Amino acid sequence: MEPTTSRAAWDQAYARVESSLHAAGVADTADLPKLEEVRVRFLGRKGELTELLKSLKDLRLDDKRELGPKAQALKTALEAELAAAKDRLEEASDAQTLNEDAVDLTLPSLRPPRGRLHPLTTTLHSIAAVFQSMGYSWAEGPFIEDEYHNFSALNMPDDHPARDSQDTFYLDGVNRLLRTHTSNVQIRTLENHAAKGKPLRVVCPGRVFRHEQIDATHSAVFHQVEGLVVDRGVGFADLKGHLQASLERLLGAATKTRFRPSYFPFTEPSTEVDVKCFFCPGTGCPSCKHTGWIEILGAGVVNPKVLSCAGWDPEKWTGFAFGFGVERVAMLMHGVRDLRDFYTNDLRFLRQFDEDFV
Ligand code: PHE
Repeated sequence: MEPTTSRAAWDQAYARVESSLHAAGVADTADLPKLEEVRVRFLGRKGELTELLKSLKDLRLDDKRELGPKAQALKTALEAELAAAKDRLEEASDAQTLNEDAVDLTLPSLRPPRGRLHPLTTTLHSIAAVFQSMGYSWAEGPFIEDEYHNFSALNMPDDHPARDSQDTFYLDGVNRLLRTHTSNVQIRTLENHAAKGKPLRVVCPGRVFRHEQIDATHSAVFHQVEGLVVDRGVGFADLKGHLQASLERLLGAATKTRFRPSYFPFTEPSTEVDVKCFFCPGTGCPSCKHTGWIEILGAGVVNPKVLSCAGWDPEKWTGFAFGFGVERVAMLMHGVRDLRDFYTNDLRFLRQFDEDFV
């Protein structure tokens, strides 16, 4: 076949490619995208050097033999130059990234946010701790209770108004309910220890449930700390001493208390204990319902019927029991006027208790 390209024309083409390669200055290319542009311009499918190599086929055979290696050498040299430039640019960009994203390992770290106990939990622990220091041990009972342990064993007659579904959350039919007070643990503790015939001192802290209208001083879910002492010859004077001492420990030595006669079917005599309002000078305010006093617990001497029903001989044993309203104590301890603040989980409120570990 006759050659279609003359050697002179090819030499010219070679010289053009060589000089435009020279002008492109591969070694000095400023960045990787530009380097890629250069590669495509010369070595791409339609690149200048590619075309030159393709045109070799149109030369005479002896020219092809001579010029083929020359053109190939140009390609090899360009590829080497491109690779070297690529290495240089990649190294530079790595160095820049390292420099810009540098981390100062000697800087002190940020303090991670730390969880803490809820103020109601710490109050509950404080109440329990005061009684534990007085020799009480810790007992717990179920939230889901039967009518017997929540009511009947506590000498609450079948028609007692507290059993009314208006006050009690019944779960299914009539025999399962959410306990309305922690006094169910009195019964369970009495039952469990009846056979041992040894004196008892327990505190039973926990959550209780009532079908209440929610307001600044009432909630449908709240907390109580129940206390129960059974021994030989203990009575109302011991109860009063334990309560007065514990309230002074909890709320301060100057705490003024008032023991009001009251009625609970499971204690006789019974009392409700009020603390002088911390929010007003005793003149009355919304927090004390304008009475100057805040009720924080119910208590009394254990009704002999309750003891005998749980297997204790009331001729030998006497006892006293009390139930603290934890929310009320927390309100007094921390000056919180609205009980709902404890339940809304507003961090601005909760963070105020950050340093408040007991
Ligand atoms: N269980 C009573 C209440 O819920 C409080 C109480 C406990 C009273 C123990 C006397 C003895 O109000």
